[in-house]
Amino acid sequence: MKLFDVYPLYNVTPVKAEGSYVWDNNNEKYLDLYGGHGVISIGHKHPHYVKALTEQLNNIGFYSNAIQNPLQKELAEKLGKLSGCEDYNLFLVSSGAEANENALKVASFYTKKSRVISFSSGFHGRTSAAVAVTDNKNIIAPINAHNPVTILPLNDVAALEAELQKGDVSSVIIEGIQGVGGLDEGTPEFFKALESLSKQYEALLILDEIQSGYGRSGKFFAFQHHGIQPDIITTAKGMGNGFPIGGVLIGEHIEAKYGMLGTTFGGSHLACAAAISVLEVLEEENLMANVNEVYEHFKNEVASLPGIKQIKGKGLMLGLEFDFEVGELRKELIYNEKIFTGGAMNKKLLRILPPLNVTKQDIEIFVDALKKVL
Ligand SMILES: Cc1ncc(COP(=O)(O)O)c(C=O)c1O
Repeated sequence: MKLFDVYPLYNVTPVKAEGSYVWDNNNEKYLDLYGGHGVISIGHKHPHYVKALTEQLNNIGFYSNAIQNPLQKELAEKLGKLSGCEDYNLFLVSSGAEANENALKVASFYTKKSRVISFSSGFHGRTSAAVAVTDNKNIIAPINAHNPVTILPLNDVAALEAELQKGDVSSVIIEGIQGVGGLDEGTPEFFKALESLSKQYEALLILDEIQSGYGRSGKFFAFQHHGIQPDIITTAKGMGNGFPIGGVLIGEHIEAKYGMLGTTFGGSHLACAAAISVLEVLEEENLMANVNEVYEHFKNEVASLPGIKQIKGKGLMLGLEFDFEVGELRKELIYNEKIFTGGAMNKKLLRILPPLNVTKQDIEIFVDALKKVL
């Protein structure tokens, strides 16, 4: 059997990794400023993470959601405390798309309405409702297209209110900071308007923090830069540092009912052990402080580089926008300079999503390489 060929691949074969570095099968060392699509939060092969997963595997790796699993409660408590979101209840899943799919479903159950508002250049995953609210026609199959969705421009409060006034909107979904689209984000005023207008017209506000969450923006969730409180928050990527886990944080006003949601794999013992150890490292190593420090350094270092139009994003969720398309630049960075970076739907944007414990020295290596290539 061959693989279903959907991924255009770089010709690199990573075989081991540690911290912010990856080694290929020829023992070449690469600086990882992309963390495999923003997944690596506490660094590759962190010893606390490896120990937690190994010990858990030696005890019990998996059983179903029909038994007691105290690790789920421990994870919910730790996540509530560290994120400052103690007034939410946690539903555990295995991916970002699954988190959004369930968030949209919960909102529809709660409001008994179905239409969803989402935003231009937004990305929310590839399953049925999650892809329908994503602004990319190329990945929406006819079976997904039946979902009632209205995609609005970011930051257009009048358009938002005009749609909400129609009374049939179950939820509004927005990324804390757009990832795949290219690091655009709502203004603080827009986020405030989202909160108050959703409430006024009885729709739920869903914050997709799958990429922007878990400390990456310098606060635990990116929406916390704007002082709002969403009804539902979704998370995945950095939550498990590579172990597949996602979460839906559901406001306490939304009542759970037996059977309303469910999954086989979500919240397994191994997944919880991974996610608990990530939170412990985030807290013990004060990684959000590092995010903010490295961000300041990054901004100063790249300011003088030629060809950069704009630095977008916050913390270690960054985009460098050039006045040319960056495809060739990324290839030179990976093959000649041995540095992984990311692209975006905006072809002129280089995405930087390193582990949250990346150092200033690592950033200097990148800036020197970038100077050379430019
Ligand atoms: C903001 C956002 N939401 C949802 C998803 C989908 O997550 P997953 O690929 O784990 O299904 C992604 C993935 O890139 C994302 O960036």
